[in-house]
Amino acid sequence: MSFKEIQKEKTAQIEQILKAYLPRVQGYQEVIMDAMSYSMLAGGKRLRPMLMQETYRLFGGEGKEIEPFMAAMEMIHTYSLVHDDLPAMDNDEYRRGRKTTHIVYGEAMGILAGDALLNYEIAPEKSLLIGKALKILAEKAGIYGMIGGQVVDVASCGVGLDEGMLNFIYELKTGALIESSMMIGALLAGAEDAELEKVQKIASDVGIAFQIQDDILDVTSTTELLGKPVHSDEKNEKTTYVTWKGIEKAHEDVERLTQEAVDLLRKFPAKDDFLEELLKSLVYREK
Ligand code: IPE
Ligand code: IPE
Ligand code: MG
Ligand code: MG
Ligand code: MG
Repeated sequence: MSFKEIQKEKTAQIEQILKAYLPRVQGYQEVIMDAMSYSMLAGGKRLRPMLMQETYRLFGGEGKEIEPFMAAMEMIHTYSLVHDDLPAMDNDEYRRGRKTTHIVYGEAMGILAGDALLNYEIAPEKSLLIGKALKILAEKAGIYGMIGGQVVDVASCGVGLDEGMLNFIYELKTGALIESSMMIGALLAGAEDAELEKVQKIASDVGIAFQIQDDILDVTSTTELLGKPVHSDEKNEKTTYVTWKGIEKAHEDVERLTQEAVDLLRKFPAKDDFLEELLKSLVYREK
């Protein structure tokens, strides 16, 4: 099977896991379950749960204990997108090829659906490892992680940024969830602290490269292909790698960071060809 075929099959498996962890649509508040499913099951590349699962396998993990974390990770990511699109933030009307959640369900439900995805608890088993995984999950999603990055991103619209601040935003708003995806995979498979730190560095490179590519696509792609509006960054007067360095230099950075990540990945004794291909495929991704 080709890389694309394997990726398709793995994505379909992840879809099944995500569906299984979504709440049933019922009760007087059923609109919120509906809105959660609407945003969660709208497609999306499922990159974060995939990275989590592959890193879990890389470190020898074989069980199903990773699955609730894969679902939790995609829920946190999806909540970050639902809120990112709100009028108070990027004010965008399309996401994953459909109208954004707040356009369909109204702004209040958009806010609540995002909150609900973040808060939806998946009962963890009692184990030290699970506790540690939850800590990583919460930290990387919070004020020292994704939310911290979004805060600086939003606060800096229309304001010039220096290199340090721009990298801070990329590392946190996008890097943090990718870090926690790969770190939790490695952790639950039994990786040691020193290995976790290396995984964190790999994922951080991948995350920054991923966001730079997202910014490039915001300028070069089409709404049809992306499933979300292009020129959102210009509309919101964002400083990005593209406005800072130009598209070509920005693309070189995507290549360099990805190569750095792949080189580090190859230093682990175990090998995962699919994971390596996956990281490389992100450099030339078109959506
Ligand atoms: C979009 O993430 C937000 C960024 C961090 C750039 P993805 O490009 O992974 O979005 P989906 O999950 O495929 O919709
Ligand atoms: C997204 O950055 C980061 C998070 C949602 C945490 P963008 O605002 O560039 O993401 P898109 O382009 O709307 O997906
Ligand atoms: Mg944004
Ligand atoms: Mg946005
Ligand atoms: Mg973007």
